[in-house]
Amino acid sequence: MKYIEVTFTMDDTGLFRDLLVDTLGNEGPYESFVETKDGLKAYVPADKFERHFLEVTVETFPVQLKYSVEEMEDRDWNQEWEKSHQAVLVEYDGGSIWVRAPFHAHRTDVDYELIIEPKMSFGTAHHPTTYMMLSYVAELDMVGKRVLDMGCGTAVLAILAKMRGASYVEGVDIDEWAFRNARENAASNNVEIALKLGDASTLQGLFDIIIANINRNILLADMERYAAVLNPGGTLLLSGFYEADEASLIARANELGMVLRSRKNRDGWSALELKDKRSIRHVSGDSVREEAIG
Ligand SMILES: C[S@@+](CC[C@H](N)C(=O)[O-])C[C@H]1O[C@@H](n2cnc3c(N)ncnc32)[C@H](O)[C@@H]1O
Repeated sequence: MKYIEVTFTMDDTGLFRDLLVDTLGNEGPYESFVETKDGLKAYVPADKFERHFLEVTVETFPVQLKYSVEEMEDRDWNQEWEKSHQAVLVEYDGGSIWVRAPFHAHRTDVDYELIIEPKMSFGTAHHPTTYMMLSYVAELDMVGKRVLDMGCGTAVLAILAKMRGASYVEGVDIDEWAFRNARENAASNNVEIALKLGDASTLQGLFDIIIANINRNILLADMERYAAVLNPGGTLLLSGFYEADEASLIARANELGMVLRSRKNRDGWSALELKDKRSIRHVSGDSVREEAIG
């Protein structure tokens, strides 16, 4: 089959590259993507290519995009994608995690191995935010914990939490494609994860650890809902924003009774570990005793 290659360049790749993948893949017929240093290459079957869709996408995109269009020779596109998609070794305090696709080599010299076929979902450990959140999930005690992975994408974080002994792991994503991909990845790794399609309004029950790698605005808007389903003394792990945005997220967490316990930074991105400090009220007869947690 003949394919069209569209090469995009942009000044600020950051989250915008992911937004571009999302727009081209979910609203358009683009099938595969390769990240480049200053942008993205996107591939679409020649018979589905529409210049109008491309122009509207570029015109309405929040940052300036430059692009060029080229018709490709016939090739084995699966093989091309496989060649360009590398496995990732995540090194954390005390061990390592090998995040690979099914076609990469199996490794025995690591602490955890996850098989993740990303298709069009986010979450392969290539992104600094996923890398840092995987490190947190590997470093914190998960044994017997109820864990929520908000914006689970490929479910890479949820899968590791379950492998590390969490008793119940729930993954929630607003995107149908991610929801289906998460289900496939959980099965490939032989772990059981409760998956839900939706946003913070779907949350019920209580969790000991909540993980959310989404973006600054959604985290600020939904943090109150996360706090409502976080057990007293529980942990909230946040990522998906730049170091410059840390202060606003910490301030919101403080308002909701959480304090900063640690942070990680990588390539300008941030991940925060927040601890719930709300007290438990013990009521017996007329007396009320407040007990601080953690
Ligand atoms: C940056 S990706 C993170 C994926 C994965 N958890 C990781 O760490 O690599 C963010 C994910 O959040 C999802 N998402 C965006 N807004 C959301 C919302 N309001 N509620 C739940 N999921 C959301 C997106 O569909 C996407 O899969």
